[in-house]
Amino acid sequence: MPLQRNGIQHGDALELINQVDDESIDLIVCDGPYGVTQNDWDQIPNIQQYNLNLIRRFSSKLKDGGALYLFGKPNCVDFIDYRPYLKLKSKIVWYRPSRLAQGRINYTNNYDIICYFVKGDRPRCYNLDDIRVSQLVELEHRLRCERVPSVKNGKFGKTKFNDKGKNPGDVWGDIKQLTYKSKELVSREVLNTIQKPEKLIERIVLASSNPGDLVLDPFAGVGTCPAVCQNLGRDFIAFEINPDYVDLAHERLNRVGQKRLILGI
Ligand SMILES: C[S@@+](CC[C@H](N)C(=O)[O-])C[C@H]1O[C@@H](n2cnc3c(N)ncnc32)[C@H](O)[C@@H]1O
Repeated sequence: MPLQRNGIQHGDALELINQVDDESIDLIVCDGPYGVTQNDWDQIPNIQQYNLNLIRRFSSKLKDGGALYLFGKPNCVDFIDYRPYLKLKSKIVWYRPSRLAQGRINYTNNYDIICYFVKGDRPRCYNLDDIRVSQLVELEHRLRCERVPSVKNGKFGKTKFNDKGKNPGDVWGDIKQLTYKSKELVSREVLNTIQKPEKLIERIVLASSNPGDLVLDPFAGVGTCPAVCQNLGRDFIAFEINPDYVDLAHERLNRVGQKRLILGI
């Protein structure tokens, strides 16, 4: 059966990936197992080796310059050699401090890692203007900082402030994890371990793809990335092993489609 575009395919990503053409994908959003929860699908004995296998298999599907974002815990790519396949451009910290579980013999982990990989040296796109965030510094401070000595040669140069905002950087504390009160939560059962905030996925899709591009979401859950792609005019291929999540994701896509119809977008 040919792969469905702009729908969620039920099945195992590690099998379905064989049906994706090599070098056909612009962006992969890989929010799969972390190896830390009690969910059956998250029982991975060695998460680093699992991730290396994903990187090896998925990278062949990327176009030159395509990007892969891999989600995980801080050690998710420790001691594995991904360099034959992809170049690690940034390790983004997604700061999410509202976890209830508190460490007793170490510091409570308050962040996830999102590894931003690129195939080849340069990304096909990095749409900075689409993801700028506000400058956060007061006008007086900005004016004072306009003349600062350069780290390179100690000479004074102009620090340029862009009025459209700044690069979001590699610590993302401005996007909050979902709570039971979040309007976008599709079901209470998927809080925390499953559903990601749309704003988080939006930043990735906006930065690393263009309208009309093809995005692959191999671990679609309840369809956050597909819903974001639908809203932003990207095509997608998505896989999910849990049939209940596939249904929830399709219902969500229908809601997004209807809303866009009503708004005439
Ligand atoms: C962290 S969740 C992804 C959540 C998603 N980003 C969202 O916002 O809804 C990981 C998902 O991967 C699915 N999964 C785990 N192993 C899989 C596999 N081998 N093939 C396809 N899906 C898998 C799980 O059922 C789970 O829904």
